[in-house]
Formats: sequence, structure tokens, C-alpha cells
Amino acid sequence: MNIAVIGTGYVGLVTGACFSEFGVNVTCVDKDLEKIKRLEGGEIPIFEPGLEEIVRRNYQAGRLAFTTDTAEAVRQSLVVFIAVPTPPQADGSTDLSYVDTVARTIGEHLNGYKVIVTKSTVPVGTATRVRETISEAAREFGNERYHFSIASNPEFLREGSAVEDFLRPDRVVVGAEDDEAVAILRDLYKPLYLIEVPFVVTNITTSELIKYASNAFLATKISFINEVANLCEAVGGDVHVVARAMGLDGRISSKFLHAGPGFGGSCFPKDTVSLVQFSREFGVPQRIAEAVCEVNLAQRERMVEKIVALVDGDVSGKLIGVLGLSYKPNTDDVRESPSIDIIRRLQDRGARVRCFDPQAMHTAARELKDVQFCTDPYTTATGCHALVLATEWNEFRLLDLDRLRAELVEPVLVDLRNVYDPRQMQAQGFRYAGVGRSVVG
Ligand code: UDX
Repeated sequence: MNIAVIGTGYVGLVTGACFSEFGVNVTCVDKDLEKIKRLEGGEIPIFEPGLEEIVRRNYQAGRLAFTTDTAEAVRQSLVVFIAVPTPPQADGSTDLSYVDTVARTIGEHLNGYKVIVTKSTVPVGTATRVRETISEAAREFGNERYHFSIASNPEFLREGSAVEDFLRPDRVVVGAEDDEAVAILRDLYKPLYLIEVPFVVTNITTSELIKYASNAFLATKISFINEVANLCEAVGGDVHVVARAMGLDGRISSKFLHAGPGFGGSCFPKDTVSLVQFSREFGVPQRIAEAVCEVNLAQRERMVEKIVALVDGDVSGKLIGVLGLSYKPNTDDVRESPSIDIIRRLQDRGARVRCFDPQAMHTAARELKDVQFCTDPYTTATGCHALVLATEWNEFRLLDLDRLRAELVEPVLVDLRNVYDPRQMQAQGFRYAGVGRSVVG
């Protein structure tokens, strides 16, 4: 089977590469010629474990191709995945202009039956809009005799484990209007079907909604536990223990109950805001999702106040070290990263900042001004009045605490990811604060 994946960002590239791993012939399309050339040279534009090897192997085997020619890729494919960016607009609604452009190109170059699949996270109703746009363009270019199906197949890939998530997903969701499209998509996903991955086949609207409901629910767990953490600080509880005990209840599960600086990344912040936005348009506001967004933003400022409090109430003119810039470990992505936001807020209060991240310094350099990038955690700590652990990279889990303390001007560690044990830190002579672990005052 020949398929095309339009948009070679992290979702499109992982999707295309993994389908080629299944033995399908995949053409990945991007309008960025530079990116396509780099991919052809075996260079992967994102840091994603396992991806480079899959891309290289399948490219060499001739099952994976890269091009800027959307028209040709569409013409030769039975299935076309739309995986272009759907960025948020100023009011929180989703910018669908890239999706619209691709839909028009598909209509213009329709040359036989095809299944057009939305992979990008798109508000409810987008697949219908795609169908209309394709039909309109098809009429305009004399291609209306060709039949096509529309489908929705949302991705649930986590950055940093996207390949694993694709090859061993919890479920595959397919929303379609006709059996033909379902049969073709089932065939495409056959290797997963054979290992008994559950398939949820439904209508398009339901499929579109599943993605938002899933992400908003996970985001809700995070904002919920962050509020409980804040309460723990006020009443003298330990959120770590609360979350553990809650998680032992199978109905709750322990996942996504880690208190911290709030969620970031390219999905949760954007998708929750988008859900809030389009649900209002339908006259059914999602009040929980609204509160989740609000709590998440407030948590960042709360982290800044936590840092300031440990630096005698004023960071102005002080040097603060920050470990971790990406929104979570194992990625170089700093989009909506709490760490970046917290650094900016510290700078607004007059702090000077040194920082280190194992992978994300090049991406953070585009976002941050007037910070010193360091080579490791210890040089980051040198001369600092406080060290902030903002992202829980593995290499920050076993730091040499004596060495760290010796580098710091003041022995202050603010652990926004609850990596260290408060009692142990106190015993080691640190002024330490985690999130929601008020056992240490
Ligand atoms: C998420 C979804 O998990 C994935 O299914 C979807 O397709 C895309 O969005 P991702 O953004 O890659 O994936 O990261 P994820 O591991 O889910 O973490 C998101 C954010 O939540 C991170 O900033 C992380 O630090 C934060 N988080 C996660 C917490 O603060 N606490 C937790 O318990 C879990």
C-alpha cells in the first residue's frame, strides 16, 4: 500500500516512519525543503529515541521517501494523513489554515479513490470542513468524479517515547463514515491488530472528541494533584504520599499524579485551551477544563514565589541556577515549558539566571534572553544563591550533593519535580523545598 503523510513534524515523521516499519510504502511531505534534504541525509530534526534508526533503515530499504511535492505524493497514495501544525490563535481557537491548504491541494490532485485522514489534533467538525474543502477544490479542478472518504485517527504519542507509543499503543481510534475507509485503515494497522491492540471504531465526531477528552482528563489529573500539593503545603501534608495512596486505588491509577510546576509541551496546554474555546461555541462550556488551564498557569507563578521565598524574599540582583529547560525529560522541546516561563518571571523580578539542560539548550536559546548556558549541573550551581530543579532528567536524580553545596553561595535547592527526599536534603544542610511536601518548613 502507498500512503502519504503531509507534515513532517514530530507526529508526521513518527507516523510515517513507523508505518514504513510495518512494510508500507510511505512518502513524507513537508514544504520545508531544507528539512526534507536533511531527512534524506539521515538527519532527524527532533530528538526522539529510536526514530533515527527506523528512518534510516526504511529510507535505505526504499519504503520511506521524503519530498516537498504534495501533489505527487497525493496522486500516488491510497491513504493521505494530514499531520500539519494546528497552532493556537490569540483567542485560544485553532488555526486551521495549514489543514485547509492541504485539503485544497488534495482536491486539486485527486486522481482516484483515497482515504483522507486527519492525524493532527483538530477541533470537532474539522473533518467535515476538510471534506467540503476537498470537494470544492475537486469541483473546481474537474475531479469531482473521484470518490474519497474522510477519517479521523488521532495520535496519542508522547514526546520522548513516541516510537514506542506508536508501535505498542494502548488503543487505536478510528473515526470514519464508511466501511471502505475502516477496512483500509484496519489493513494499514494490521501489525497492531495482530498483537491485539484494541481498536475503537466510531464516527468522526466521536473520534475527534476522544483526543480532547483524553488529553483534558490527563491534564485534569495534573492540575488536581497540583492543587492538592498546594493544600498540603498549607496544612502540613506530603503530596507524594497522598498521590501514592490515591494511585493504589485501581480506579484512580498512579499515573499523572506527580505534582510539579504544571504541564507544558505542544499538546496539553494547546488542547485544553482549544477544548474550552470550541465547547463554548457549542454552548456547552467545559468548566473543569477551564479550571485546569487556570490552575496550570497559576502554578508557574506559585513556583516563582516558592523560589523567591527561599532567597529571603527578593531575587533582585541574585544569581539563580536552573537545571532543566525542556517541558519534560527526554526531549529538546521547550514549547510551553514551565521552566522557560519561570526563568522569564525570575528575570522580570531582577534575577540573573544560569542554566543547563542535557538536550534543550539550543531550543531554549531561541526563547531566552540574557541567560548563561552552562555545561553541567555543577558549573550551573557555581556562585548561585539558589538552584532550581525544573525538569526531572535522569542525570539530575543522583547529583553529588556535597559538590553542589560547595558550588552554591547559599545552600538552597528548589526541587520543582520532587526528585529528592526533603528530610535527606535537610540532613545534608540544604534549605530545600519541593512541591507539596511541607514536612520540611
Ligand atoms: C501528551 C499526551 O500524553 C499524549 O498522549 C498526547 O498525544 C500529546 O500530549 P506529551 O506532551 O509528550 O504527551 O507529554 P506527557 O508525558 O504526557 O507530559 C505532559 C506534561 O505534563 C509535561 O510537562 C509533564 O511534565 C507534565 N506532567 C505529566 C506532570 O506535571 N505530572 C504528571 O504526573 C505527568
